[in-house]
Amino acid sequence: MIRPSPVDPAALVARLADVLRANNPATPHTEAHLAAVLADATAHPGRLVRPQLVWLGATRHGLEPAAAEQLACAIEYYHAASLLLDDLPCMDNATVRRGYACAHRVHGEASAILAALSLINRANALAQLAFATQPGEVRLRALAGIDCCLGPTGLTGGQARDLRFAESPRTAREVGAIALGKTGALLWLAVCLPALPAAPGPVEWRRLKALSVYWGLAYQAADDLRDVMCATAETGKTTNRDSVLRRPNLAHAAGLPAAQRRLARQLRLAGETVAALGAADARWDYLAAFHDAVFAGLATEVTRPTPNLAA
Ligand code: IPE
Ligand code: MG
Ligand code: MG
Ligand code: MG
Repeated sequence: MIRPSPVDPAALVARLADVLRANNPATPHTEAHLAAVLADATAHPGRLVRPQLVWLGATRHGLEPAAAEQLACAIEYYHAASLLLDDLPCMDNATVRRGYACAHRVHGEASAILAALSLINRANALAQLAFATQPGEVRLRALAGIDCCLGPTGLTGGQARDLRFAESPRTAREVGAIALGKTGALLWLAVCLPALPAAPGPVEWRRLKALSVYWGLAYQAADDLRDVMCATAETGKTTNRDSVLRRPNLAHAAGLPAAQRRLARQLRLAGETVAALGAADARWDYLAAFHDAVFAGLATEVTRPTPNLAA
């Protein structure tokens, strides 16, 4: 196997930020409010966790750099679209996202919805382009994965249950099931789509899927804890939403110490899974490096006193 040279994470993030801007579907003729939402959504990325993961996997498993960038951009656009919709008054009614006023507050709800649809539309095209030169089997599995992860069996299904959480038994189990849909599905795409050209064996698939579950649950648990523990100024997005809106939040459902323990457990399981993948075949070793660099620190972010819990 040809070993790729190590990637400088800061350079990768900067490159991916350029790619997100370059693939913005707006043209000079796009209506001004729609164009403004798209410009903001593509120019103010978050930490780019998902596209980094996609790019690292895609290049490791043989996609050309341009195709890896397209796939990374597609997954980030799905994520950005989900945030535009999640912040709407009919969803979480948020006011701040990534340190800026939410798109619907500045440009109106209709423009935010249309921008989300525009991003999903462009993402679908980019994902197809990324796999265009792959064998038919890979292309079909990619399409099926995207369909399954973004629809009612994945992201939209999780969001629908999230909105109706107050009418559910409000158990920690339901919180976990919702997290797997609304957050885990995109992580499944970020882990498994780039792995398709590598034709993983059954044991590898089982581990990759398990990894996306552990990372998805950990990521959402950390998000829930930040909602409880952090101020909006710290996170750059409206916090303390979950108790106000009676939304699923692991810290509310299980208690703060239990939520922190579960987060630590998911991270430990993820660490064991990436270690097992890498020990069996070095082609997966980027996952352990990514776990250490990005996920392992999630727990330490959310282990301090708790201003929002009593609110
Ligand atoms: C939203 O979950 C997940 C998606 C956008 C699919 P949250 O509502 O908890 O996300 P934040 O806290 O607003 O980022
Ligand atoms: Mg939400
Ligand atoms: Mg939200
Ligand atoms: Mg949240």
